[in-house]
Amino acid sequence: MLMNPLPPGLYRWHEFTDRSALQDAAVAAILDSAALSIRERGRFDLVLAGGDTPGEVYQRLRGAPTDWSAWHIYFGDERCMPPTEAELNSRMAGEAWLDHVPIPPGQVHPIPNGPRADKAAEAYAQTLRAVGIFDLTLLGLGQDGHTASLFPGNEWGVAPDAPDVLAVFNSPKRPPQRVTLSAARLNRSRRVIFLVSGASKRKAVARWRAGENIPPRAIMGEMGVDVLVESALLEPLKHPEGNP
Ligand code: 6PG
Repeated sequence: MLMNPLPPGLYRWHEFTDRSALQDAAVAAILDSAALSIRERGRFDLVLAGGDTPGEVYQRLRGAPTDWSAWHIYFGDERCMPPTEAELNSRMAGEAWLDHVPIPPGQVHPIPNGPRADKAAEAYAQTLRAVGIFDLTLLGLGQDGHTASLFPGNEWGVAPDAPDVLAVFNSPKRPPQRVTLSAARLNRSRRVIFLVSGASKRKAVARWRAGENIPPRAIMGEMGVDVLVESALLEPLKHPEGNP
């Protein structure tokens, strides 16, 4: 399902009756993007989303018919916790997918984890200096409206000259310390796909579609943004004034 290139500044909402259909569409879109990027440029630079939603999408990529040697993997954000923690985004992606495919190890670029978000952010910014525009960036949506580790009320790094990578010390979603690509760096992507499923996201989706200034509003790829969302999350809220 190749996303037709449209003028930037456009959101495309793709509704799916259930999580499995959304995951199938996500896999197809990722592989379409990979095939196009590898055909046009000989490589595919992909930014992974963290959290639980993408896990099954990553698992479904294990058997994909693609040239893994051309894939280069980056992460949109990471949780600052010990490397043994299962909740690390890089560990989740590894166990679900990356440990099971022959992407050259030097082409998988986890965000350094460890106790200091500022040191990890500095190190990852150095890593990203070698990378131009991403071919595809995958993002999730938190129930409070965050994406990656860009949280409402925090600095999102929207300005074009914003740092590529930000340290977060007050994440409302554990752990408090995280590292995240800035909105400006995430926007240097040809395509951006949000994967949004789970009843808890309903209010955040309503706020986003109502035009509230929550972090996803700061995200815009060169070819717009594609949001893969479960249909149930688009139904009007019964109590719009409800708490997030
Ligand atoms: C994280 C993620 C975060 C995630 C959203 C959605 O480290 O938690 O990067 O941005 O994508 O919180 O998470 P779920 O998919 O688990 O709902």
